Amino acid sequence: MNATTLPAGDTAALLDLGRQYYLPIYRPRELVLERGQGSRLWDSTGREYVDLAAGIAVCGLGHNDPDLHAALVEQAGKLWHTSNIFYSEPPLRLAEELVKASRFAERVFLCNSGSEANEVTIKLVRKWATAQGRPPQERVIVTFRGSFHGRTLAAVTATAQPKYQAGYEPLPGGFRYIDFNDLVQLETAMAAGDVAAVMLEPVQGEGGVMPAAPGFLRGVRQLCDRYGALLVLDEIQCGMGRTGTLFAHWQDEVVPDIVTLAKALGGGFPIGAMLAGPKVAEVMQFGAHGTTFGGNPLAAAVARVALRKLAAPELAANVSRQAHALRQGLEMIGAESGVFRQVRGRGLMLGAVLAPEHAARAGELLDHAAAHGLLALQAGPDVLRLVPALNITDADVAEGLKRLRAAVADFRGRA
Ligand SMILES: Cc1ncc(COP(=O)(O)O)c(C=O)c1O
Repeated sequence: MNATTLPAGDTAALLDLGRQYYLPIYRPRELVLERGQGSRLWDSTGREYVDLAAGIAVCGLGHNDPDLHAALVEQAGKLWHTSNIFYSEPPLRLAEELVKASRFAERVFLCNSGSEANEVTIKLVRKWATAQGRPPQERVIVTFRGSFHGRTLAAVTATAQPKYQAGYEPLPGGFRYIDFNDLVQLETAMAAGDVAAVMLEPVQGEGGVMPAAPGFLRGVRQLCDRYGALLVLDEIQCGMGRTGTLFAHWQDEVVPDIVTLAKALGGGFPIGAMLAGPKVAEVMQFGAHGTTFGGNPLAAAVARVALRKLAAPELAANVSRQAHALRQGLEMIGAESGVFRQVRGRGLMLGAVLAPEHAARAGELLDHAAAHGLLALQAGPDVLRLVPALNITDADVAEGLKRLRAAVADFRGRA
C-alpha cells in the first residue's frame, strides 16, 4: 500500500486545528497518523512507526485487520443503528457469545466505553445492595490506590488516584480506598460489614502496570464471601487476551460477580460491556438503566469477530511468545543501559520502570522513541508501558526493540 502523504504545510495546519479547537485536555504527539497495517503506522508525512501502543491497548488485532474490516463494511451496508427499543441481530449474538465465553455471566449490558461499563456497574452494585435492604451508608465500594476506572464522575471517584479527582469535588460518596495487594488492609476495610463490593483491575494499567500478587484475587474473593460483598473485576485494559488468557482473572482462578470490558472488545471500534453473574443478573429491571448507542449493530458486528479472534488459542500462543521476547528485550536494554530498574506486567501488558536517577522522565523517553520511529505509552511519570497488538509478529517485536535501544541511547546521552 502506498502512503498518501500530505504536504508538510498541511500537517502543520492540521496540528494547528487541534491546538485551536480541541478542549486542551490532551497533549498528543506532534504528528498526524494516517493509516495502519498490523503493528505499523504511517503519519501524514509518510513516516513509518512500530506501534507498541495499539491505541492504548485497544487494537488487539492490530490495524486494518481484514476480518474486522469485512464485518464493519458488511454491517454498514445493512443497518447502522436501532437503539434499544428494537432488536437487531449483531448485539443479540454478541451478548450470547460474551456470556458463553465468560464462563460465569448470565446477562450482559452493552455500552460504548469503559467508563460507561464501570458506571453501570457502580449503579448495579448499589441496586443489589438496595434490594438486600441495606441502607445507603452500607453500600460502600472498596477500590485500590493506583487504580483507574474511568473519567465519569462515579468512575473517577472509584479511581483511587487524587490527580484524576482534583477540582471535581463534590465527588459522589460511598467509596473507600486501600493499598493494592494488601489483604490485611482489605479485611480491616470490610470488617464493619458496610461494603457492598470490592472493585479492582487484575493488572492495574494506568497506575503503573502493576499485576495483582499471586493469590491476591483469591483472597479478595474469600473476603467478599465472608462479608457479603460482590467481586467486581475491571478487565477493560487487561482483558480480551492481553495477559495470555481471554479473561485475565482465569489465571487467578476466581469467579467474579461482575466483569467490565471495553478497549480491545471492539478491536478499535468503540464498545463496552458489563457482564453480570448469577447474584446480580436479575437486579436491574425495566427502566433501571439505559443507553442510546450501546449495543450499536456496527460495533457489535465488529466485536463478534474480534471476540472470536481474540479467543483463538493461536493468538494466546502468540501473546506468550511475544511477551517472552519483549520482556527479555526490555530486560536486556535495562541491564545494558541502567535505565530500567524493573520490567513487570503480564502477557503483552508490560511496564519498564525507570531507575530512580531517571524518575519522572518516561515522557522524555517516549519523545526519543517517537524520533526513532517507535510509538509506546507511559503509565504515570516513571513507567514505560508497552501494550502492542496481540498478533504482533517476531519481526515487529525485534524492530521495536531495536528502535527502543536507539532511543534509550539518545535518552542517556542527554541525561
Ligand atoms: C482499567 C480501565 N478501566 C476503565 C477505563 C476507562 O475506559 P474509557 O476510556 O473507555 O472510558 C480505562 C481506560 O484506560 C482502563 O484502563
